[in-house]
Amino acid sequence: MDIFDKCKTDAGNFGKYRKMGDTFFTRPILDPIPGRTMKYNGKEMIMWSVNNYLGLAENKDIQQVALDAVKEFSISSPMGSRMMSGNTQYHIDLEKKLAKYEQKESAFLFNYGYLGVMGTIASLVGKDDVIVMDKLAHASIVDGVLLSHQKFRVFRHNDMQSLENLLKRLNKNRKGGIFIVIEGTYGMTGDLAKLDEITYLKDKYNARLFIDDAHGFGVMGENGRGTGDYFGVQDKIDIYFGTFAKSFASIGGFSASQKEVIDWIQYNARTQVFAKSLPMVYVKSLNKTLEYVINGDENRKTVWDNSNKLKTGLRDLDYFVGDAKSPICPVFVTTREDIMEETGRKMLTYLREKNIFVTVVTYPVIPKGYFMFRMIPTASHKQEDIDKTLEVFQSMRNDLKLNVTIDEKHRKKIEKIYS
Ligand SMILES: Cc1ncc(COP(=O)(O)O)c(C=O)c1O
Repeated sequence: MDIFDKCKTDAGNFGKYRKMGDTFFTRPILDPIPGRTMKYNGKEMIMWSVNNYLGLAENKDIQQVALDAVKEFSISSPMGSRMMSGNTQYHIDLEKKLAKYEQKESAFLFNYGYLGVMGTIASLVGKDDVIVMDKLAHASIVDGVLLSHQKFRVFRHNDMQSLENLLKRLNKNRKGGIFIVIEGTYGMTGDLAKLDEITYLKDKYNARLFIDDAHGFGVMGENGRGTGDYFGVQDKIDIYFGTFAKSFASIGGFSASQKEVIDWIQYNARTQVFAKSLPMVYVKSLNKTLEYVINGDENRKTVWDNSNKLKTGLRDLDYFVGDAKSPICPVFVTTREDIMEETGRKMLTYLREKNIFVTVVTYPVIPKGYFMFRMIPTASHKQEDIDKTLEVFQSMRNDLKLNVTIDEKHRKKIEKIYS
């Protein structure tokens, strides 16, 4: 048996698509400039699949700061890890600003959100500790848990009874700490962690709480501070994590917490300790982006307006839109199991032929028996984009003779995600 034998098979989560060289469901080739419209197969599409929530991807002012930074520091700067030769006052200043924004004592930058989540979780958990994780937590949380090589338990998605049962049991026999790791705004389904109840339970059972707020950061709460602020419990979140890959339309991420915890993370999060530090072009431009995000109430209002219009319009057409309390617009469809994929392909093809670009999500991200169009309204979408999209969803329903209403049994199953 050779280690490479598996590469000839279609094993793995996306193996079937890899094997057929798919560029339709997976890896569609898009022209690279993100915006309300993007080119797919040479055709301009209304884009509902990029997390450019605040429309900052197109911001010329931020772009100019990045260009100036490249001129001043080149693309190489700084070289080496923060610990060795890659630390600068600019990194430290950005961390201070992020900490202040998130109402925490201190913050630490990572090159990627994914590696930041992994590094933060794994750095903190020791031999006698237990991690408690939401079933729908993002892959970076799962991988952080696995990287820690420590015990973990999983509770049913956003189910407070399931969480409390676990905490009660673990607390009784505890030898070490309990670390709850969750998302703030769930990026696929768009629902929010019940942070008011979770923070209550974490206090009751003397646990610590980490939230990966990739999709809430910049969008939710006052000044876009995030999902913790939206629930009024930011001070109860022990470690707040934000990534710059969504509303900041850039790259990187950060953990924010009390000073001694951040000190610990910066010396122990292996995914950053042993990696080159965040390039200056990002550090400098993120500083500018942060100003736009803090002062971004107008953009946030537009995202919410666009999201509400899209969700209401789709519901009026009888599509089933999950009750997401974030701007994310999840459209669920169900069919007989044997025609599920074919139906998904037909719908996507129809939409793309009519210049609407959406992506489709299936099990295990959502329960079995459905597929979901995950649509991301942004501040850069215009009324005409929403009108056109609704028009196409309406004609699709009629032309493909789709029954898009969801019966009572299925409705209950989906509503469980959001209850
Ligand atoms: C919930 C969540 N956490 C973490 C990540 C990883 O962030 P990044 O793309 O900045 O590495 C993502 C991105 O897809 C995400 O959606």
